[in-house]
Amino acid sequence: MACKSTTLFFSFFFLSTLLYSQSDLESDTSECKGRWIYIRELPSRFNLDLLSNCSNYPIYTNFCPYLANHGLGHKTHKNSHSWYRTDPFMLELLFHRRILEYPCLSPNPNTSDAIFLPYYAGLDALRYLYGSDFNSSAEHGLELFRFLQQDSKHIWDRNDGLDHFLVMARPAWDFSQPLMNDPPIWGTSILELPEFYNVAALTLESRPWPWQEQAIPHPTSFHPSNLAKMESWIGRVRRARRSTLMVFAGGGGVSSAPNIRHSIRDECKNSSNSNSSSSSSSSNSSGLSKVCEIVDCSNGVCEHDPILYMKPMLQSTFCLQPPGDTPTRRSTFDGILAGCIPVFFEELSAKSQFGWHLPEEQYGEFSVFIPKEEVVSKGLRIVDVLLGIDKNEVRRMRERVIELMPRIMYRRHGSSLGLSAKKDAFDLAVEGSINRIKSRVTAGLSV
Ligand SMILES: *[C@@H]1O[C@H](CO)[C@@H](O)[C@H](O)[C@H]1NC(C)=O
Ligand SMILES: *[C@@H]1O[C@H](CO)[C@@H](O)[C@H](O)[C@H]1NC(C)=O
Ligand SMILES: *[C@@H]1O[C@H](CO)[C@@H](O)[C@H](O)[C@H]1NC(C)=O
Ligand SMILES: *[C@@H]1O[C@H](CO)[C@@H](O)[C@H](O)[C@H]1NC(C)=O
Ligand SMILES: *[C@@H]1O[C@H](CO)[C@@H](O)[C@H](O)[C@H]1NC(C)=O
Ligand SMILES: *[C@@H]1O[C@H](CO)[C@@H](O)[C@H](O)[C@H]1NC(C)=O
Repeated sequence: MACKSTTLFFSFFFLSTLLYSQSDLESDTSECKGRWIYIRELPSRFNLDLLSNCSNYPIYTNFCPYLANHGLGHKTHKNSHSWYRTDPFMLELLFHRRILEYPCLSPNPNTSDAIFLPYYAGLDALRYLYGSDFNSSAEHGLELFRFLQQDSKHIWDRNDGLDHFLVMARPAWDFSQPLMNDPPIWGTSILELPEFYNVAALTLESRPWPWQEQAIPHPTSFHPSNLAKMESWIGRVRRARRSTLMVFAGGGGVSSAPNIRHSIRDECKNSSNSNSSSSSSSSNSSGLSKVCEIVDCSNGVCEHDPILYMKPMLQSTFCLQPPGDTPTRRSTFDGILAGCIPVFFEELSAKSQFGWHLPEEQYGEFSVFIPKEEVVSKGLRIVDVLLGIDKNEVRRMRERVIELMPRIMYRRHGSSLGLSAKKDAFDLAVEGSINRIKSRVTAGLSV
């Protein structure tokens, strides 16, 4: 009951913000040239109604608590200013709220450069992934497509959907079940539907050779609302005493099967038995008091409790980001926020994913790459690689990580102008979508 009333309140508040911002539209036209966005009006069954079913899928999770603050979740503590219990799957709400503040919203689809579909695709997917529509997974998206064909069809027809974009806040893997798999193995087929081939989808992770989707940062728990709050956090990150060489916050790797998580656990166990080669580093003046720390996040205990892992990450020089069920991790972005240099073990974990936010050609400047095969089957020790990096180089890398911080965080809606002047993950996602749409429309790449 409590959950239901929260949701209703939330929906009402959401709607009123929506009406307010659309009527309050003012913009300097020259600055908006080439960047006008029209937000498609969709019936509430495609977005807000989905929120009232937040407790329908106990097998997944009851996500009612994470709807608060337009998808940021509740604050971690009463007096916390910038930290929330954010669930990354709520990116669709968070993005929707933020786009209402976009300075170049247009009331006219005919003259807009891009059309945003405020469809909560990931939340709607739950009934196929975990609910009674499992065997109809090939139908995910067809109802939306029918609507777009029936209502103001000219908006779609202008470019056959090539100028449309939406957020699908799950890995693309969850949306790319081949249409002929009957019954489905896992996932809906919305990215496999020819009807949607032209639409740009912003996902939490893309497939290795994506056409439709682009991966954008997983939301973290940090959502500052003004420049002072962000700068005070950056100051804390800079001053942090990093007494641990490397940290891994996560689960898995506990079975005996050889994989990268298992190797990491092994190495950490050995390094705490103090007489491995790494223990020598604790006795010299490099300031290290611990080589490796594991934050046990098994069974999702860390998911909505950033304090559990942010503190160890602030105290560590390197953050290990091994692939798990899928190659990307929210932890990559948590670690960057802590000024903790990411260590990747495969390119699909970030380099071939987040090109709009983390410049592909600069990975060597802000991250370490250790191919997982070298570790798992050739006995290369992660500790040895990391200890081999020169201290000045480490300092330079950390500075680069800190510089990237504003690009991968989602600031709070309604932020001050000072903070809004810095491009955050949302701004870069919108900019990337518009550029992509422009190039595809110009090239006539309609499928
Ligand atoms: C919410 O759940 C009910 C019961 O399962 C279902 O009938 C309804 O269609 C759902 N609403 C949406 C918008 O999915
Ligand atoms: C947009 O164009 C369509 C037909 O091309 C027209 O019916 C509609 O009235 C136009 N809308 C606006 C807001 O100008
Ligand atoms: C899907 O179909 C399979 C058999 O084809 C059946 O065993 C299963 O119960 C169905 N699942 C749902 C959720 O209806
Ligand atoms: C850990 O120590 C054991 C026993 O000393 C050794 O066999 C194993 O190779 C070590 N693993 C790593 C990753 O160093
Ligand atoms: C650690 O020390 C013990 C005895 O003190 C020795 O048996 C063991 O082989 C050593 N392990 C490593 C990895 O050096
Ligand atoms: C401390 O140990 C590390 C790792 O072995 C090494 O790179 C560094 O040069 C050492 N520092 C001193 C002052 O010996």
